Order: sequence, then C-alpha cells, then structure tokens
Amino acid sequence: MDTNIPYKPKPYNPVSKLLHWLIAVMIIAMLILGFYMTGLPLSPYKLKIYSWHKWMGISILLLSFVRVLWRLKYPAPDLPPQISLQASKMALAGHAALYALTFAVPLSGWLMSSAKGVQTVWFGVMPLPDLIPKDEQIGDLLLSAHINLNFLLIALIIGHALMALKHQFIDKDGTLMRMLPSFNKKDLT
Ligand code: HEM
Repeated sequence: MDTNIPYKPKPYNPVSKLLHWLIAVMIIAMLILGFYMTGLPLSPYKLKIYSWHKWMGISILLLSFVRVLWRLKYPAPDLPPQISLQASKMALAGHAALYALTFAVPLSGWLMSSAKGVQTVWFGVMPLPDLIPKDEQIGDLLLSAHINLNFLLIALIIGHALMALKHQFIDKDGTLMRMLPSFNKKDLT
C-alpha cells in the first residue's frame, strides 16, 4: 500500500448500519428490561412487562434473520490493511459469536416460555405457536440457558465495544467509523 495516500475506511452500507444500531439498542433495552422485570413483585404491571419483553425479543429474532440475509447479500467491507491476520480472525470469531447469540438468546426465551406453558403474543395481538410442549423441568433448564446465554452476550458486547474503542482511539485505524452514520452522500453509493 502507498503510505502517502491517506487510508479512507470503506463504510458499511446504510441498511447494515441501521440494522446494527437498531438491534444493538433493542438488545441493550432488553437486557435492562429482563433484569428489571424479574425483580418485580407479581402484579399486572409485571405481567405486562414480561409480555413486552417477550414480543420485543421475537422482534429481535426476526430482525436478526433479516440482518444475516442482508449480510450474505452485502458482505462487510474489507478491514483496514494494517490489521493483522490474527486480529482479523479474532474479530471474525467474535462477530460470528455475536450473530449466533442474537438467535440463541431469543430462541432460548421462546423455548423456555413454551415449556413453562406461557404463550408469547407478538405485539400483544398475534399469538405465536409454542415451540415445545409444556414441561416444568425442561422449562427450568431453559431458564438457566436463557440466563447464561445472556451473561455470555453481555461479555461479548463489552468486548466488542472495547475493541471498537481501541481501534478508534488507540490504533486510530478508522474501523469504528465504518459503522457510524455517514452524512457523506458518496458513502451511500
Ligand atoms: C435478544 C433477546 C433477549 C434478551 C437480551 C433477553 C434478556 C433477558 C434477561 C437479561 C433476563 C433476566 C434473566 C435473569 O433472571 O437474571 C430475561 C428473562 C426472561 N426472558 Fe428474555 N431476553 C430476550 C428474549 C426473550 C424472548 C424472545 C422471550 C420469550 C418469548 C424471553 C422470555 C423471558 C422470560 C419469561 C424471562 C423471565 C424468566 C424468569 O421468570 O425468571 N426473552 N431475558
């Protein structure tokens, strides 16, 4: 690479950026809602929050499908050339794990609710089928799966955010800029 030409990172396309930030904000809201709601005393309010949590989680699941399909059609732009092969392999593994968890966390919640015999109603109006028959023991196992997958997700989100900040402020290689909203019309093409 000619080091006299300043490197300009190629951004993600606008739909990829939108899906990334939409899902990120929804997941963080869901984590807060999830830990908040379980500590509430039993009341109609608690049941309403549980219902919101469940249909919002299903919405994340659907958006994750859209995101993966979009990603297959529009692959991520190349990483900046100064990133080592080992670092790019680690980034790939971290991103793959994050993608997997955006499916595994809501699916474990849906399976758990099904096993506990509490149907999920999307947006409070569309009843969704239970994925498995009612079984209290399996429900308890799926509850601990849901909780543990959430802790794994939190660890990965923290690692992901820290790496993005390291690239931005220590390596200064423009990696984070690729995912930030762009107001430059040329980047939208
Ligand atoms: C990305 C999506 C999701 C995230 C980030 C998420 C996160 C969480 C968190 C942090 C908790 C608290 C765990 C604890 O007890 O410490 C929780 C609990 C729960 N989640 Fe989710 N969740 C998601 C999707 C879903 C879905 C799709 C459903 C069901 C359709 C669901 C059903 C539940 C239920 C029923 C609980 C309460 C379990 C209990 O009674 O202790 N979640 N979730």
